[in-house]
Amino acid sequence: MHVPKIVQLRAGGTSVVVELAEPVPRVLHWGTDLGELSDDARAALKLTAEPAVLNNSPDVPRHLSIWPTEAEGWSGTPAHEGHLDGTATAPRPCLTDTRHRPLPDGGAELVMTLADDVSDVDIVVGYRLGASGVLAVDAAVTRRTTARSEGRYQLGGVSTLLPLPRRAGEILDFTGKWCRERAPQRRPLAFGGHVREVRRGKPGHDSPYLMVAGVPGFGFRYGEVWGVHVAWSGNQRYLVEQLPEGAGVHAAVLGGGELLKPGEIALGPGETYRTPICHFAWSDAGLDGLADRFHDMLRARPEHPAGPRPLTLNTWEAVYFDHDLDRLTALADRAAEIGVERLVLDDGWFRGRRDDTAGLGDWFVDENVWPQGLTPLVDHVHGLGMQFGLWFEPEMINLESRLAREHPDWILGSSAGLGPSARHQYVLNLANEQAWSYILERVDALVGRYAVDYLKWDHNRDLHEAVFRDATGADRPAVHAQTVALYRLLDALKERHPALEIESCAGGGGRVDLGILARTDRVWASDCNDPVERQTIQRWTGQLLPPELVGAHVGAAEAHTTRRVTTDSFRLITALFGHAGIEADLTRCSPEELERLASWAALYREFRPLLHHGRVVRADTGDDATILHGVVARDRTSALYCWSRLATSPEAQSGRVRLPGLDAAGDYRVRIRTDVGHPSAHQAAPPAWVAQAMDEWTALPGAVLSRTGVPMPTLNPEQAMLIEVRASV
Ligand code: DGJ
Repeated sequence: MHVPKIVQLRAGGTSVVVELAEPVPRVLHWGTDLGELSDDARAALKLTAEPAVLNNSPDVPRHLSIWPTEAEGWSGTPAHEGHLDGTATAPRPCLTDTRHRPLPDGGAELVMTLADDVSDVDIVVGYRLGASGVLAVDAAVTRRTTARSEGRYQLGGVSTLLPLPRRAGEILDFTGKWCRERAPQRRPLAFGGHVREVRRGKPGHDSPYLMVAGVPGFGFRYGEVWGVHVAWSGNQRYLVEQLPEGAGVHAAVLGGGELLKPGEIALGPGETYRTPICHFAWSDAGLDGLADRFHDMLRARPEHPAGPRPLTLNTWEAVYFDHDLDRLTALADRAAEIGVERLVLDDGWFRGRRDDTAGLGDWFVDENVWPQGLTPLVDHVHGLGMQFGLWFEPEMINLESRLAREHPDWILGSSAGLGPSARHQYVLNLANEQAWSYILERVDALVGRYAVDYLKWDHNRDLHEAVFRDATGADRPAVHAQTVALYRLLDALKERHPALEIESCAGGGGRVDLGILARTDRVWASDCNDPVERQTIQRWTGQLLPPELVGAHVGAAEAHTTRRVTTDSFRLITALFGHAGIEADLTRCSPEELERLASWAALYREFRPLLHHGRVVRADTGDDATILHGVVARDRTSALYCWSRLATSPEAQSGRVRLPGLDAAGDYRVRIRTDVGHPSAHQAAPPAWVAQAMDEWTALPGAVLSRTGVPMPTLNPEQAMLIEVRASV
């Protein structure tokens, strides 16, 4: 096939243009679609990719290649670093092969092979632009079998970098803690590197999650933004870096990769290191535009959950460790009555697990608590027509367990002695084949025996001093191998039980990434079910993930994690916008509460086809105390919005708020749904349209709803209102 010197990948309104320059190709453009490039346009792009030669600088124009190193005069973070016993520290990559082909989904792929004779490695870099406009970049670094020098190539790190223009002057990324995951933080892009490194052995509650650079002031609905997500569940890094001399004709770079510990990857002849995929997306329609691309990409996966997401009841906050067949059977009965479709038995069912100090690793049903095994409960749950789910924390071990007593060598930790426990637990070395096989056998056996439909896969501590003893007795870094072994374990389970669904939980939302989601079916966003916190956690988790992948449960009126008391309607409306569930003791609910939960379950069933397939939209209200978000059908004929107030504001009126995503030329009718109660408000009377639309259809044109906007009621704090919109027929 004839390969042009300039390759254009085009899909989903995005263009990526790569010049197959030598020695290393360059990205000439990443961003808005440029249309099919004519020869003249290609020539113009190439000509204008030549920057000025600066004073006190290399005597040739500096270019930013797809694999930047010092060889091209790049003084920023290199694409790869490494050494051969202190030598070969200055790589000299050089293009040797290129493949370019269209993809079945309408996207396109470009694969470039680079040879680095200095370090004796070959590098294969893949750019895959999918129909959604998300560019997936990965690389494989292979130490040649013909390596001239002895020894292993110590890979220091590999970063995938793409260029940013100067107008991308503001950065958004995320931080957080247990019960407050994905808290956004913004800052101006300055000179130097803004680097986020994760050394927890998992993305963590403070995961950077998605690093976005944009034209300052970008919002949900406006502004040009560029973002990257590292699809990896181990240590990782994200960066934006701006040098005074720029990056060729670009201003800065955005990227990331796996964070490698010294010595973690030492390539012998013929061995390959594969980077995680970095997903890059661009949009000129603000953060919603970016989210749209990620949601489209995820929904196009063959493994994406397609059927209705079952309404779930998780037993954790209902009974904690107090497992008792009668109590749980009664809970299952109440659950079935109100329309729950899946019951998940959380922590506490296995040997010795009466609290969180013991038992992890002993994955056998505790005969003292469950004398007949789980069969009576499982049969009861299945008999009620519900699916059955079971909690595991397979990568963890308590010292107070038979497993730890029998296999202390399976525990990750320094030969100088184990460091402090966290939640009384340590980490099992999954890269140890025997440990891996034991876990697979145990989970597999229980899934098979009890016809388990769903696993809640937990992970409640950071990995510290994650080293294992090698054959010579030396401590070696383990996080990379642990992550690969975890993926292999999940893959093996899925292969044995293709219908099994798995949730990624990590003390709440501590392991939310597209690496784990390539093998699991949803994430638990947070242990915090307090709707005030949850509104924000879900809003930002949705920046990457569509609602059907994000567990959202209703907790008790008094939140167990914040002790805040909220109304039923606020909690129920908040939990509707995800894969909904319940995290409460239904046997203690009043008949009125159960009736409301049943109405909510019906509402969830009514709206989940829309919520789990439509486009997520979020409004820029200009007031942090209010949130408007919704989901709009792809054909824009229906939508469901949530208007909520978290706290009071100085302003008494919201003014006109736009309902984003509708067809401005369309005719709609609107009604406020009060199935789960009326929100209370801080006003003598609601805006006229709200009064009229209270459970009654009211005609309003798309132009008014989405362009001029409508005045919202001034709700009391911690209240929410549901607005249903349908196209008029
Ligand atoms: C942490 C999880 O996030 C909770 O939902 C619960 O499963 C506990 N672990 C159980 O120990």
